[in-house]
Amino acid sequence: MNPNQALWEKGDFTRIAASMRESGEALVRALGITSGLKVLDLGCGDGTTALPAARLGADVLGVDIASNLVEAGNNRARAEGLANCRFQQGDATNLSELPDGAFDLVISIFGAMFAPRPFDVAKEMVRVTRPGGRIVMGNWIPNDPTLVAQILKISAAYSPPPPDGFISPMTWGVESNVIERFTGAGVPKDQISFARHSYTFDFPAAPSALVAEFRRYYGPTMNAFEAAEKNGRAAELEKELDALFERQNQSTRKDQTSIPATYLRITLTV
Ligand SMILES: C[S@@+](CC[C@H](N)C(=O)[O-])C[C@H]1O[C@@H](n2cnc3c(N)ncnc32)[C@H](O)[C@@H]1O
Repeated sequence: MNPNQALWEKGDFTRIAASMRESGEALVRALGITSGLKVLDLGCGDGTTALPAARLGADVLGVDIASNLVEAGNNRARAEGLANCRFQQGDATNLSELPDGAFDLVISIFGAMFAPRPFDVAKEMVRVTRPGGRIVMGNWIPNDPTLVAQILKISAAYSPPPPDGFISPMTWGVESNVIERFTGAGVPKDQISFARHSYTFDFPAAPSALVAEFRRYYGPTMNAFEAAEKNGRAAELEKELDALFERQNQSTRKDQTSIPATYLRITLTV
């Protein structure tokens, strides 16, 4: 099986996505979505941004490599009666099942950044966007002091080194890399803009319980714990993550966690 697919099917990202719904809705509200707009949500998970876009009247296709998340997305859309929102399996590095110029707006929020071969990903995103259409990407930023970059940094210290030639997903959070990838796909540099925004993880229990969710359900953290267990370092990893989540938590209630994380939002016109 494609290792990327195996990583995301290993856990159950719906459990983490449940803490990200409000920020997903806020982001989508800021995109000026109008009725009938054709939207592709790439690396859509179970629809944190796809469903809000469909609620605003867009005609939404969610594409994700993980079959469990595609099924979860379709179930959520069905439960809400959103006939204008469907999900299918696909790989951001090769969207050959989708025609050129099919979408007015392509969004990928912490999605396509996790695919390998970033130049292929940029090319495919541009290819399926109609001329004059938009691409909006949200990417975590390497070495950023906020939550997700720190989780990935801590986890990496407990994991075996990646295979030769591996390109870190976090390189999508560096403006020069993004420019190189999208200009390589034919988009002029002056049509690419950057802004920093915040996404908040809201969880109805203490920060250590959110760490436990990541340990049980988030593929990259599951892998870090598996590697740490082999070296007898799982308790150390847990302690580091507990301290991180505790430090970043902004909720004043003991039974509530609220952690904002900074990301790079990229907007480009094709
Ligand atoms: C961190 S989750 C984000 C999901 C969703 N965008 C959200 O905001 O909740 C990353 C998603 O990217 C998907 N993904 C990873 N590699 C992919 C690829 N090559 N093609 C399509 N989706 C991919 C994963 O399956 C997962 O659903």
